[in-house]
Amino acid sequence: MKTTVLVTGANGEIGHGLINHLADVDDVEIVALDLRPLDGALAKKCIHAVVGDILNAGVLETLSTAHNFGTVYHLAALLSTRAERQPVLAHRVNVDGTVNLLEIALTQARLQGREIKFVYPSSIAVYGLPDLDVKSQVGAIGESEWCTPRTMYGINKLYCEQLGGYYARFYRQLDAEPRAERVDFRCLRFPGLISAATLPSGGTSDFAPEMIHAAARGEPYACFVREDTRIPFMAMPDAVRALLGLEAASAEVLSRRIYNVGGFNPSAGELHDLARRAFPSAEVTFVPDAKRQAIVDSWPADVDTSAAVRDWGWTPQYTLNGTFEEYLLPAMRQRYGAS
Ligand SMILES: NC(=O)c1ccc[n+]([C@@H]2O[C@H](COP(=O)([O-])OP(=O)(O)OC[C@H]3O[C@@H](n4cnc5c(N)ncnc54)[C@H](O)[C@@H]3O)[C@@H](O)[C@H]2O)c1
Repeated sequence: MKTTVLVTGANGEIGHGLINHLADVDDVEIVALDLRPLDGALAKKCIHAVVGDILNAGVLETLSTAHNFGTVYHLAALLSTRAERQPVLAHRVNVDGTVNLLEIALTQARLQGREIKFVYPSSIAVYGLPDLDVKSQVGAIGESEWCTPRTMYGINKLYCEQLGGYYARFYRQLDAEPRAERVDFRCLRFPGLISAATLPSGGTSDFAPEMIHAAARGEPYACFVREDTRIPFMAMPDAVRALLGLEAASAEVLSRRIYNVGGFNPSAGELHDLARRAFPSAEVTFVPDAKRQAIVDSWPADVDTSAAVRDWGWTPQYTLNGTFEEYLLPAMRQRYGAS
């Protein structure tokens, strides 16, 4: 029997990678939801592609009536830079939207009489380090450390992580009869993601993919952080593998609901060196934007991924050099005709 999965934010960067992978799995059928129409090639891979808002309960109820979901990948969100510019809208989309999806998952669990998996991408934006001295001292940060975000986006993500735990364990805990239905909430804290296929928009880690895409197109790029800025990143195919790996893990091996994942953590200057080596005509200048720099400085230089490695066998496929040589360069040469 086929499992039906719901992907919200399906037309975004991760949605593209995830749908392309899910479409290759024989026993999965995909229902996609996004504010924007899904790209034609992706829509062909879905049994139903809906243009709609996660804040519209009617849209979600209609979807829930038409399909039995086994898993919800809730990707729709406003990312950090956009969220900082429109904090009230970000709160609505990122928090109220997530509550709406958790409610749908719970309804589905009740109707189907089984747990529904809810896979949620959180972010290193949940961390908030007070200054660069602390950032250099803490090194690879653990999941329970420094959860003191300074952005609306980070606060939204941290709160939704907690909401997921509530829906999984304590929902309406005062009811006379214990409730049988459960949401099996699973969360990844992603670092910045680098995709060859799509361009980011609205994130504060975007300096890395923006720099690499500009270099491949032969266009100058003014990087909005200092050369010594260091945060973790991973290649998009590894982010998709992490989502699928956590979804597939048996519940018994999961000792927690929230896992750091990552790949590598070059400084912006080291990324520039790699981009220049790959695309010798790359023209990158460093023009730090003090406000965006302060946000990136509050994010950790690295993440401790040992819980994900131990519990469900997480290992990134791509090193930093491998990301350039095996993933980005072939795809970008094809895309931009770069040499
Ligand atoms: N890309 C990254 O570096 C990164 C890092 C950490 C976490 N994440 C998280 O992963 C998820 C997906 O990120 P992404 O990079 O694909 O982002 P993206 O901005 O590329 O995609 C988000 C998608 O959500 C859709 N959307 C926004 N508001 C909506 C609404 N109200 N209703 C329906 N759809 C709506 C957008 O149209 C967009 O297609 C997000 O939750 C993000 O916070 C991303």
